Amino acid sequence: MNIILMGLPGAGKGTQAAEIVKQFPIPHISTGDMFRKAIKDQTELGKIAESYTDRGELVPDEVTVGIVKERISEDDAKKGFLLDGFPRTIEQAEALKDIMQELDRDIDAVINIEVPEEELMNRLTGRRICEICGTTYHLVFNPPKVDGICDLDGGKLYQREDDNPETVANRLNVNVKQSKPILEFYEKEGILKNIDGAKDINEVSEDVINILNNLD
Ligand code: AP5
Ligand code: MG
Repeated sequence: MNIILMGLPGAGKGTQAAEIVKQFPIPHISTGDMFRKAIKDQTELGKIAESYTDRGELVPDEVTVGIVKERISEDDAKKGFLLDGFPRTIEQAEALKDIMQELDRDIDAVINIEVPEEELMNRLTGRRICEICGTTYHLVFNPPKVDGICDLDGGKLYQREDDNPETVANRLNVNVKQSKPILEFYEKEGILKNIDGAKDINEVSEDVINILNNLD
């Protein structure tokens, strides 16, 4: 099963991906997570990515396509994958189509999580993440039991560098512009599934899992 999760920054891609991989044994491939790891490790990729992610701009297509191609060609992705945050430009969508053709595989569904733009600033500025396991919380919508501490392993919660109001505003601008043609691209391919991401986290998960259980 080869799935793409789409949605504006803060729509809930990462939150829903965590639920999906509990039920379907496929790797969760998030380009954002890959860039953040590379930045933390200060690899060559990280040094390139940092100047873009810091400002909420997109990392250039040739860099991003390269890391995705490599990642989905790895052994664990042979049984399927869940792409989160890729493609994010029409050029990336076209490159992914070529990669899939080379691998003789198809994308089965593109799940687009729709949330009104005005909710996303709150979601992102209130997001907190466990430094140990990466579980995502929200100060209001999905708070931990103890302030600042992960429920699962007691790890400290931190805020992402790009979750400040200025960078969030730019991320939203950039992504709103880019996403429309990609959604049209997948609509034409007949694999786009829009879901209402403004509902509670659990309700959204039910809708997503339902779609995945009913793919042809
Ligand atoms: P990336 O890490 O992909 O960031 P993003 O797209 O901005 O999305 P987020 O991870 O912020 O949001 P999400 O949809 O995962 O929401 P979450 O589930 O955490 O990319 C970061 C950067 O990397 C980019 O800006 C760019 O520079 C670069 N990059 C990445 N991919 C690239 C590409 N393909 N090309 C070029 N550059 C690329 O939820 C958010 C919050 O809301 C959480 O607090 C959560 O608890 C809460 N929440 C979730 N669902 C609900 C709900 N239903 N109700 C209430 N609260 C909810
Ligand atoms: Mg995410």
